[in-house]
Amino acid sequence: MQCVTCSAPVNIAVIKYWGKRDETLILPANSSVSVTLHQDQLQAQTSVAASCHFEKDRIWLNGQEQSIDNPRIQNVIKEIKRRARKQKAGNRDNAAEKLNWKIHICSKNNFPTAAGLASSAAGYACLVYALQCLYQIDGDITAIARRGSGSACRSVHGGFVMWDKGQKHDGTDSIARQIQPHTHWSDLRVLILVVNEQKKHTGSTEGMQVTMETSELLKERIQSLPNKTEQITQAICDRDFKTFAEITMKDSNQMHACCLDTYPPISYLTDVSRRIIQLVHCFNRKYQEVKVGYTFDAGPNACLFLLKKDVQKFLHLVKHFFPPTREDKDFIRGNTAELMETESDDSEEDLSYFPFDPMDDSLKYIIYTMPGPGPQELPSDQSLLDEDGLPRKRS
Ligand code: PMV
Repeated sequence: MQCVTCSAPVNIAVIKYWGKRDETLILPANSSVSVTLHQDQLQAQTSVAASCHFEKDRIWLNGQEQSIDNPRIQNVIKEIKRRARKQKAGNRDNAAEKLNWKIHICSKNNFPTAAGLASSAAGYACLVYALQCLYQIDGDITAIARRGSGSACRSVHGGFVMWDKGQKHDGTDSIARQIQPHTHWSDLRVLILVVNEQKKHTGSTEGMQVTMETSELLKERIQSLPNKTEQITQAICDRDFKTFAEITMKDSNQMHACCLDTYPPISYLTDVSRRIIQLVHCFNRKYQEVKVGYTFDAGPNACLFLLKKDVQKFLHLVKHFFPPTREDKDFIRGNTAELMETESDDSEEDLSYFPFDPMDDSLKYIIYTMPGPGPQELPSDQSLLDEDGLPRKRS
């Protein structure tokens, strides 16, 4: 049996992908830009084993066996094997033979899927990266990750990433590339505000399809995006927080406006999401400076960007306006060690500046994180599969 174990990160788009030009190949209607988040806080882990003794392909996700017949998983496996066959042509060790062996896949997230965070991007990026390691294939794999979930192609790189929509019909030029590594902007930080009431919402595949079919606004959005994409790329290269945060907020608002312009309309934001937006604008207005930027995916959770120096001040406000009803030591998670170091914020915020009441118990928790690197291969002692290729039971 041969087995590899890898980890991959979550990414958050600052120029959103919303709409496909090809449903089967998962080709986007527009290019998108994202920030890869640090794996210390949010990561998927996947082990893939191949053996001549396995009877069939099998997959376990977060401890539960799932059907391997999911068309997206099948596409990913098929594409990887096609690439491996092309590259190997039977010349190295048992590589060609290994391609005929059945595989076992075991994957888990280090964060609750119920949190409504983009787990499929990390999951598919991790699967594709692990298969690449297993079959030792070279070259771009983002176009293969894209076949699992569009946004997964951006999780194949760390730092700041651009997914080019591409021009070709076969999608070979619709790939993701790194704009800058995560080390480029060392004081950029991220707060994820996980909203308590997760209403059942329209999945992104279905949602973007209906928006494509019915929204006039989306057509205008797609026309105007190349300019914005260029500007935010430059802002990232220049570490220009104001431009970066403004474009991020406007793009999120525009994507959600397109969702409302969809017929029938789709609304992902809740009252809590809208209150978070209000708080950010109020805070920025008070300081007469763009200090915080927000973005929302296909759900109510907020992803906030800010600089390290402003985190304590802003968190203080978040805790005041979105307090947990019971004392909760785990309310703030993630890189709390850094928060301890920077605890000394002496200036008291004038809360009367913010014209609203606290919303008790409206956040489940907050994750404090930052940009991070791309997928990694992990040592074999971290394998999720045992010697028989079955999920390892952990106490
Ligand atoms: O890759 P999908 O199908 O999960 O779509 C992702 C859509 C958004 O998260 C809303 C935007 C994006 O670019 O990540």
